[in-house]
Amino acid sequence: MRIGKQNEALTAIATSDADSITVRGEDLCRDLIGKIDFTDYFWLLVMGERPTAPQRKMMDACLVAIAEHGLVPSVQAARMTLAAGPDAWQGAISAGLLGMGSVVAGSSEISGRYLAEIIEKAEVDGIDVETAAIASLHDLKARREKVPGLGHPQHSGGDPRADRLLEIADDLGISGKYIDTLRILAKHAPGIINRPLPINVSGAIPAVILDAGWPLDALKAVPLLARTAGLAAHLFEETQRSIGFIMSHKADEAISYDGLIAPSDDAKTSA
Ligand SMILES: CC(C)(COP(=O)(O)OP(=O)(O)OC[C@H]1O[C@@H](n2cnc3c(N)ncnc32)[C@H](O)[C@@H]1OP(=O)(O)O)[C@@H](O)C(=O)NCCC(=O)NCCS
Repeated sequence: MRIGKQNEALTAIATSDADSITVRGEDLCRDLIGKIDFTDYFWLLVMGERPTAPQRKMMDACLVAIAEHGLVPSVQAARMTLAAGPDAWQGAISAGLLGMGSVVAGSSEISGRYLAEIIEKAEVDGIDVETAAIASLHDLKARREKVPGLGHPQHSGGDPRADRLLEIADDLGISGKYIDTLRILAKHAPGIINRPLPINVSGAIPAVILDAGWPLDALKAVPLLARTAGLAAHLFEETQRSIGFIMSHKADEAISYDGLIAPSDDAKTSA
């Protein structure tokens, strides 16, 4: 069975023969192993060329910013999975990555697409970005939807990771249309939505990395790669000092059952 067009049977990422492995046009053993750091390699793999110095610094900063934030839901899912299946690191890492959804940890892509949508709308309608952003905020409010990239349950006064990433982007001179749009949203959102809404890390990451030249369609790779490192730390700690079943037990204690109760044997007999 053939599904889809079959005329572009090509890949440009890697090839190998008996003696060598070529990755993005460079010899893996001669040019890359021992010579390139992992952030550069990540950029080379995805983009097909090495990053410039500012691009490397921005990507490094994003990866460090999002790798770890304590016992967040995805980490809990991973640690409980490892407690239940100590032989399944791959399952536990996957459980953690699967938990990086649109609400927390995995929302960079949605925030990035939202910024791109506002920029495109402004271009298509021939209006400035500020006007497009304000209209979009009113629209989200009317639909009772959340503004992607803003708000944080703990850092309600301002997510320090976001502030730092934006500061680094400014210092590196890469701030452009995505960061400008994010800042415009953050300026107007509290007044329109009627609540404090600071830029969060999942709003800052797409803005800074898109302005650095990273593609929208590969945005999700950034938090996924970074959190894999954080999950590795949690899973190693889980093997040394397990808390997976403590979390499971505490959840059981914290949540009450309010479903139907099965009738007793006496009640059944008398019925
Ligand atoms: C991150 C987030 C889940 C934190 O939420 P929270 O502070 O616990 O707030 P809640 O989800 O309980 O919402 C509380 C109120 O604030 C509002 N609110 C919170 N974040 C909002 C946002 N980004 N835009 C609009 N309203 C928002 C909710 O609609 C809710 O309003 P209501 O009381 O009238 O129903 C939330 O801000 C959000 O979903 N942001 C967008 C997604 C995002 O950027 N996630 C990445 C987080 S790092």
